[in-house]
Order: sequence, then structure tokens, then C-alpha cells
Amino acid sequence: MPIDITIGLQWGDEGKGRIVDLLAARADVVARYNGGDNAGHTVTVGSHIFKLHLIPSGIIHPHTFCVMGSGMVVNPLVFLSETASLREAGVPISPARLAISHAAHLITPAHRLLDGAQETALGGGRIGTTGRGIGPAYTDKAARTGLRAGDLLHPLTFQQKLTAHLESVSQKLIVLYKQPGINIEQMAVDFSEKALQLAPYICDTGALLRQRLHNGQKVLVEGAQGTLLDLDHGTYPYVTSATTTAPGVLTGLGLGMQSKSRVIGVVKAFQSRVGEGPFITELHDELAARLRGTGENPWDEYGTTTGRPRRVGWLDCVLLHYAVAINGVSELVITKLDILSGLPVIRICAGYHYKGGDYNELPAGLSVEEMGEYQPLYQEMPGWQQDLTMVRRWEDLPIEAQAYILKIEAICGVPVRMISVGPEREQIIYRQ
Ligand code: GDP
Ligand code: IMO
Ligand code: MG
Repeated sequence: MPIDITIGLQWGDEGKGRIVDLLAARADVVARYNGGDNAGHTVTVGSHIFKLHLIPSGIIHPHTFCVMGSGMVVNPLVFLSETASLREAGVPISPARLAISHAAHLITPAHRLLDGAQETALGGGRIGTTGRGIGPAYTDKAARTGLRAGDLLHPLTFQQKLTAHLESVSQKLIVLYKQPGINIEQMAVDFSEKALQLAPYICDTGALLRQRLHNGQKVLVEGAQGTLLDLDHGTYPYVTSATTTAPGVLTGLGLGMQSKSRVIGVVKAFQSRVGEGPFITELHDELAARLRGTGENPWDEYGTTTGRPRRVGWLDCVLLHYAVAINGVSELVITKLDILSGLPVIRICAGYHYKGGDYNELPAGLSVEEMGEYQPLYQEMPGWQQDLTMVRRWEDLPIEAQAYILKIEAICGVPVRMISVGPEREQIIYRQ
């Protein structure tokens, strides 16, 4: 069976969780392949709002099996609190329907301390991380000193590795960052007591996925973060420490090359970013406040993980075109079109002015230095006044909203198959 991959095409928070929940209705398996609890994926089902950080959003459907792949970094404490709150909300969680890869890396409280210390030391040059220990955990993975989920199956050697890790971080905190060291014994006892509870979930998820695909099961992949936060292809160094693009799905899950994957690119109808880094179409005026919202609505632009107000701006179609290309996107889903209702004019960035020339693709790549010199070239389109939240058919969208979607399609060269007009499951428009 081919796999379906959902990927965020911006700086995260495109509405991936909401779309995965929708697509999971027809999937057997839902798998995450990257990141950790830096992700915050919101799924609205009636009056219940689920905010998932680690466990795939597909878990909310009772029929799915969920996988946390080898490309992930898993904080056991977050895993346990997330499983507890899901159970409280009536979602059954057990190894019968959730598996963690033995090769996924573990995030410890020491990684979180290090993340905070590194950010503090960077001062004005900070990344604006989520503070979840993501960077330090992936650093240990690359340095081949990390703790893996599979280590939990060997408690004695796990204790030794954990102690060595805590000692090493403690030294770094004291020597490099002039911060207090760690109470190693206490942290080791507290952490391992909780972490060992993950043991029943740990297995070779790559083998499991390959078998299920062989048996004809449908696998849906849930990307975390967004393309522009990719470690290789994003706005480095203002990125996360993992691959967020579609090609990473294979290594992050333990799959071979797939001949026919559907790559579903999720894009918000405007641009948002939380954390530092370049943002060419950023708005700062009352229009920004209008797009962001006040925080009263659950969908307003405030970080799902950290609660930080998100930076917002006009849709950047130069970056979108780039994201479509490097992911091999086969179709687009546009979310939050309803938020643009009521604006007299909508701007869309279709090119950049750079060193005396105009370009409709990235004139000098995606480096932070060059991006500082790109000036957005906007095309203005008439807005629409109608509320879209009750619209369910393409024909019922205002002509101006249709024109906006058609413009995105024309720039990116891939079809828009779904348009989301609200956070609820039924607030979706399908297009053939
Ligand atoms: P993710 O990280 O990509 O899963 O996105 P987040 O959950 O962090 O942020 C997206 C927010 O927008 C959530 O609160 C969603 O419930 C909400 N949302 C998703 N699609 C729509 C939509 O079409 N309209 C509105 N108003 N809200 C939406
Ligand atoms: P979802 O899956 C938005 C951002 C952080 C910071 C940078 C590095 O909900 O779309 P990290 O903690 O990963 O080292 O932070 O990446 N970031 C996200 N921004 N949505 C996310 O996830 C993000 N995950 C990380 O704000 O700028
Ligand atoms: Mg999010």
C-alpha cells in the first residue's frame, strides 16, 4: 500500500493535527516520524479540544493503530501525562494501539535544562526554542551518546547510561553556562521510575510498519513542525533540530523508498511563525492583531505548546513554492481561510525584490543573511465579507475566495484538494 504523508509547508502550526484527524478516519495506522513535544497539534471534536504534543493525532479515532517512529525524541514524562489526559477524555491507550520505536531517543529533564541554558547564553541571538530539550536530545543522538527508548528494556545498562548522561550535562551547566549542577541521584531515580513505564510500548516499529503495509493496511504519516523549520532546508539556524520535510519520513519510520506516496502539504491561508528568525511578509500593525486574534478563540494565533503570541503576516508564495518543490507535494490543503473574511484587500507575496532585480523564486536561496535583503512583491486581491464557516461546497465560496485559492494553485502548480473553514471536523470543503 502507498503511504499518505501530511507535511506543514510553513513554520509550523498550519493545522496539521486538524487535517490528520480528518484523514485518519480512513487510515489503519497513523505515524509520527520527527520531533518531540515541541509540536502542539490541536484537534477539535465537538466541545472537546485535544492538544497533542507527542502521540499522533490519529489516536482520537478508536480504530487506529499509532506509531512513534525512530526519528522522534520522546520525553517519557510528557508521554505519561499525555496518555493520562487522553484516557481521562475517554481515548483508550495501550500497547495494543500505540507503539514507540526502540530507536527513538529519550529527552530527560537534563536536556530541558540545557536547552534553557543555551538559549539564555545566546541572549539576543537566541533561537526562541520551545524549551523542551529538543536540540540537546538530537545533539546527543548525532554525537552517539544519546539514550534510546530501547535502552529501557535493559534497566541495568540504562541506569549506567542515564547517570553518565546526567553527569555530562551537569558538568556543561556548571562549566559552560555558570549554572547550578544537577542533583544526579535524585534526577536519576525520579526519571527512571517514570521512564521504565514506557517499556511495554517499545518495539521495532519499522518492522511493524513494513508488515502492516505488506498486509495492505493504509498508513498515514503526521509531520510535525513545518518545512521552513527543517534542519537542512529551513531558515537555519532558526530551525528545529530535526528533518521536517517529506523525504525524512522514510528514515524516521524505517521504511524503504515508496513508489507512490501522496504528499499532502498543509498550508495556512496566511503566514505565522513562533520564535525568532526571518519573516519577509511579517505584519506589525492592527492587521497583525486582526490575523492573530485576541486569544479568546481557541484557534487564535498563540502557541499550542508555549502560549507565545505567534508572529503573523501575508501568505508568502515564494516560500510556499519552494516548500512544494522540496517535499514533492502532490496536493495542497488550505486551512483557516475563514480568518480572512472581512478584509477589504488581501495581499499575496508572489516575488521578491533583491539587489535591483525582481524574482518569483528564491533569488539566492534560503539563508538568513540573504533573506534580510529580500523585499516582498505583493499582488493585491479583493477580499470578501461573507462568513465562510458554514460553507461546505466550492461553488458556495465567494468568487474572491475562489480567486485567492486559484492564485495559490497557479503559483505552486499543484491542486488544492481541501479547504478548511473552521476547526471542527465538518468545516471542510473537498475539491475534485
Ligand atoms: P498544527 O501544529 O499544524 O497541528 O496546528 P496548531 O494546532 O498548532 O494550530 C492550528 C490552530 O488552528 C488550532 O487551534 C486549530 O484548531 C485551528 N484550525 C485549524 N484549521 C482551522 C480552520 O480552518 N479555521 C479556524 N478558524 N481554525 C482552524
Ligand atoms: P507544530 O508541530 C511552530 C519552533 C520554535 C523555535 C524553533 C526551534 O505544532 O507545528 P525547538 O524547540 O524545536 O528547538 O525550537 O522551532 N517550533 C515550532 N513552531 N510549531 C511547531 O510545531 C514547532 N516546533 C518547533 O518555536 O522557533
Ligand atoms: Mg502546532
